[in-house]
Amino acid sequence: MKAVILNGVTPAEQVALSEVEIPKAKPGWVLVRVRGFGMNHSEQILRLHEIDADYIRKPIIPGIECVGEIADAFDSGFGVGQKVAALMGGMGRSFDGSYAEYALLPARHVFPVRTELSWKEFAAVPETYFTAWGSLFEGLNLKPSDALLVRGGTCALGYAAIQIAKALGCRVIATTHRQEKLPLLAGADEAVLDSGELAGTVSGVTKALELVGVKTLADTLRCTEKGGIVCNTGNLGGIYALNGFDPIKYIPNGVYLTGFYSNRPSQKVMDEIFSFIDRNRLRPCVGASYAFADIREACAALDGGKVNGKIVVEV
Ligand SMILES: NC(=O)c1ccc[n+]([C@@H]2O[C@H](COP(=O)([O-])OP(=O)(O)OC[C@H]3O[C@@H](n4cnc5c(N)ncnc54)[C@H](OP(=O)(O)O)[C@@H]3O)[C@@H](O)[C@H]2O)c1
Repeated sequence: MKAVILNGVTPAEQVALSEVEIPKAKPGWVLVRVRGFGMNHSEQILRLHEIDADYIRKPIIPGIECVGEIADAFDSGFGVGQKVAALMGGMGRSFDGSYAEYALLPARHVFPVRTELSWKEFAAVPETYFTAWGSLFEGLNLKPSDALLVRGGTCALGYAAIQIAKALGCRVIATTHRQEKLPLLAGADEAVLDSGELAGTVSGVTKALELVGVKTLADTLRCTEKGGIVCNTGNLGGIYALNGFDPIKYIPNGVYLTGFYSNRPSQKVMDEIFSFIDRNRLRPCVGASYAFADIREACAALDGGKVNGKIVVEV
């Protein structure tokens, strides 16, 4: 089969397909014929920096998510040809991931899915919608009566969160730091240009999804009403940790702060997501799609950060 194999730091222009053996299914693991995968920041970080860390297995096939069909079910109870999605749990980091024609994956991280979405749209869902769903419902306990602020709305995760919250019936306020991108937030009720200081300029926010991250988190907390919740899920602003964190001064009285990490997907949540997508006729925002033979261009697009929506590779 063809696959991307990483051994060390690899800029996009050096990404290439190699010919390797198709892995064999074994107890607890299933072989998936990959039909597509979405691309993620964590894969860019792996390829450009993290690959040298001791805890990353090498050589490694990257890719933290995919969609496809069961090629060998082994002892899993799945059926050959069954449509599945897989994500996280060490995929593309501690065991080979999705940038390949076949992937050998732990059965507990492979989820049978019923969907009418095309392979391309389906490939845009697993990691992005699982993260949006977990942030909105596990993190923010989102209800139709909420007014949701999505800070950093012009990313794949932002578009998914806006879609889900609107379908639920919420009022949604979404931000971008670029004037020219305001029209991309048409799915929200209000599109706001983010100057870095929004407190006092947005009103009624009961829940906030922070995708810019630590860079704007203090201001987002100040934008949120007493009793409201802020979920920090993204770090588009490029700052990853708070130094000198003083919770007494940092978090306004009566506002709650939480986070979400997508490492523990479950069949229950995947079923909820796909039935919600189906029921509400949602279509994921695919910003660009590539054939597997063009994986180098797909990696360059990820590194370039100019695509609006999910980057998808069809295998
Ligand atoms: N917690 C988790 O488990 C989890 C899971 C998945 C993703 N994430 C994180 O969630 C964030 C979004 O991921 P994604 O895959 O949806 O990203 P994406 O679609 O690749 O987002 C890229 C877009 O973000 C915008 N952006 C970049 N810097 C920005 C900034 N400082 N402020 C506002 N917008 C900015 C860029 O548009 P501009 O042209 O506007 O700059 C760019 O078009 C990332 O930080 C990612 O690491 C977290």
